[in-house]
Parts: sequence; C-alpha cells; structure tokens
Amino acid sequence: MSAVSRHYFGEESTEDSHSFHIDILESTDGDYGMFAWPSSVILAEYLWQQRSRFIGKTVVELGAGTALPGLVAAKIGAAVTLTDDLHKPEVLLNMRRICNLNKLDCKILGLTWGEWDAPLFELQPHIVLGADVFYDSTDFDDFFATVTFLLQSSPGSVFITTYHNRSGHHLIEFLMVKWGLKCLKLLDVFSFLPACKASSIHGNIQLVEIAFDVDEVELKV
Ligand SMILES: C[S@@+](CC[C@H](N)C(=O)[O-])C[C@H]1O[C@@H](n2cnc3c(N)ncnc32)[C@H](O)[C@@H]1O
Repeated sequence: MSAVSRHYFGEESTEDSHSFHIDILESTDGDYGMFAWPSSVILAEYLWQQRSRFIGKTVVELGAGTALPGLVAAKIGAAVTLTDDLHKPEVLLNMRRICNLNKLDCKILGLTWGEWDAPLFELQPHIVLGADVFYDSTDFDDFFATVTFLLQSSPGSVFITTYHNRSGHHLIEFLMVKWGLKCLKLLDVFSFLPACKASSIHGNIQLVEIAFDVDEVELKV
C-alpha cells in the first residue's frame, strides 16, 4: 500500500505551527527502504535543530531509503547526495520521486556498502548521515568499511547516525573501535525531541556522532 506522510519542522514542528514540511512517499508492502523509519524522523529533527551547522556543507546520506534527514539537510542549505543500495533501483527511483515532490535538488547515487565504485572516491563530505543503517548485522562490517573510508578521505568530517539497538548488544561500540573511529557525542533522543514527535517513538534509539580517530591511528603506526 502506498501513502504520503507529512513531516513538520519548526519551533513547534506541529501541523499548526511550523516553518516547512517534507512529504515522503512510502510503501508499507515494499522493500524496507520504502518506509520512513522512526530513526529517520529523529535524525531529521536533530538536523533541523542544529541547522546552522549544515548551511553550505557537503552532506552524504548512506542507506537513505526515503531520505527524510537528507531532504531536511537540503532544505536548510546543504549540498546533498542521497545514496542507497545500487542493487535496489525501486528504492532509488522512489527517492527521486520524493525529491521532485518536495522540489529539492539532491544528487542520487547507487552506493552499496563495502563496494568501491568510482563515484565513492569523489564524495568527500563534511557530514555523513545514516538513519537505522544498523539493521542487519551481516552488513555491519561493510557499512563501517564505507563510512570509515568517507571519514578518512575528508579530514574533519563527522558521521551522525540514529541507531535503533534491537538486540541490546554492544556490537556497534566494538566495531567503532575496530575501525579506528571515536564517539564525539551520544544523545538520548528524548533529550531533544519535541513532545509531539517523542510520543510516537518507541524502542532503544540513540543519536551518535562519530569521527575518524587520528590519534588512535598514529599510536598504532
Ligand atoms: C532500515 S532501512 C532505513 C532507511 C532509512 N534510512 C530510514 O531510516 O527510513 C535500511 C536502509 O539501508 C539500505 N541498505 C541495506 N543494505 C545496504 C547495503 N549493503 N548498501 C547500501 N544500502 C543498504 C536499505 O536499502 C534501506 O534503505
């Protein structure tokens, strides 16, 4: 079943009081990349609240799916590339339709984690985004390989992710250390979500900012 969900952003982020909205085309019976997951709603709200950081920045969203965070980044003045699995043309096509629906000009790129196609080498983002990209643990190492490459290729860049810990394990913390990354910020999402959005969020979701750990790599050399 297909539907359009409307997401509000502003001082109150409600239907009655907001600065702008983003419409998302969703399909509940399609691929899991055709649905706006709660983590994307949280990350999008965080970007709106931190909007001054994004003006004029180059932003890449990995595993973007319906791409709500990337679209908010574009709306607040970033140059945005939205990516998802190269082998999922239906997800990439839906992303294009959503950009057009919202009249936002983003680049769209098929980018499969752990695969080294030429466009990856040209991205050099200031900020990498990922909402609910830690879903299937068999993909985690490929994901970290890609994100570590992007952070390493663009000094000073950060990765901002909303992470739904479905297993209760600490695999992400372990992999972060394994790939030479460090945590800059860890937020409980209820510390910044407005009440109107917090009421529909369930589960153990955290927001984490991550960077390449230059000191750690120098120590190992
Ligand atoms: C749980 S969905 C999250 C989608 C979106 N970020 C959100 O929060 O609404 C995971 C996303 O990762 C993408 N994905 C899964 N495996 C991937 C891979 N190996 N390479 C690139 N993208 C992948 C899926 O296509 C899907 O869009």
